[in-house]
Amino acid sequence: MERKWIDNIKIVEPYIPGEQPKDENIIKLNTNECPYPPSPLVNDAIKNFDYGNLRLYPSINCDRLKSIISENYNVSKDMIFLGNGSDEVLALCFMTFFNSDKPVLFPDITYSFYDVWCKLYNIKYEKIPVSDNFEIISKDYFKENGGIVIANPNAPTGLYLEFEEIEEIVKNNEKSIVIIDEAYIDFGGESAVSLVNKYNNLVVVHTFSKSRALAGIRVGFAILNSELKSYLEAVKNSFNSYTLNSLSITAAEKSMSDLEYFQKCREKIISTRNRTINILNSIGFKTLNSKSNFVFTTCQNQKASYLYEYLKSKKIIVRFFDKPRINNYLRITIGTDYQMDKLFEELKNCL
Ligand SMILES: Cc1ncc(COP(=O)(O)O)c(C=O)c1O
Repeated sequence: MERKWIDNIKIVEPYIPGEQPKDENIIKLNTNECPYPPSPLVNDAIKNFDYGNLRLYPSINCDRLKSIISENYNVSKDMIFLGNGSDEVLALCFMTFFNSDKPVLFPDITYSFYDVWCKLYNIKYEKIPVSDNFEIISKDYFKENGGIVIANPNAPTGLYLEFEEIEEIVKNNEKSIVIIDEAYIDFGGESAVSLVNKYNNLVVVHTFSKSRALAGIRVGFAILNSELKSYLEAVKNSFNSYTLNSLSITAAEKSMSDLEYFQKCREKIISTRNRTINILNSIGFKTLNSKSNFVFTTCQNQKASYLYEYLKSKKIIVRFFDKPRINNYLRITIGTDYQMDKLFEELKNCL
């Protein structure tokens, strides 16, 4: 039968996240989750949550959560925008801030959701090649554009672009909005949040999914000046008034209040990451200098696709992207020391 409606349908190629296997014996190093549980305060808060309150809509302003974030980041409360994971925050930022005839710029090797949102919203874009060493070259972004988005540290490379270079990009693009996606900044770099009061075209996006071990509650936030925030809120409120649910808000509040646990957790991951880089390099890999909770590595004697399948057969899942420039690399999330030792053991067996 003729499908008369087909021309009216928006057909898109979606982003494909890493797999979430059910088998609990699998060592899962494929989606940059935290290998440790969230703060124990989150556990208490969820246990003590009055389920009767679920009949009510959640808080519209999330005042308490915003106060805690504003104290942590030393910004005013009206500079914080919350969303259902930083993916949603970024998606709404693209919709709100990227409406130019000129292309939005981002690196050719970066978070692959950026192209997906551009296509979804018909935003023109241009991918700026990273160097042969996968470095972002800041001066390549000093040209006309309809906006800029940079993940720092970048994914899947883990490479960090120095604070001064980020500032140069923001400073040289005062006619457009620059989004810095800092999903991994807690694992080694200096955040651009301190620049938000200096440059009115800067938006910095963070998440609870990585360094705070709360990927399952879906909370992310942007820090931006209050004028930009008002445009973003208006778009969000034209879409869904309640993007965060009551349980997630409570969990996020507790997590952000527990600074001591947060520090301990990220220090452990940084130390395991540095050990991982050294061990991988000692057994024939070349690993980029990651400042995130994953490493991007290539083996001199074996193809990445082969290693990926081999590890999978041993119940260790890492990420392999069958894409130009990076199809001989593996992205490996930093797990516990025990999990990483298993990984090294299997890689040694395979090589
Ligand atoms: C660079 C980058 N930005 C944003 C996200 C989204 O994180 P979430 O939606 O869990 O906050 C990810 C997730 O892996 C990421 O790698």
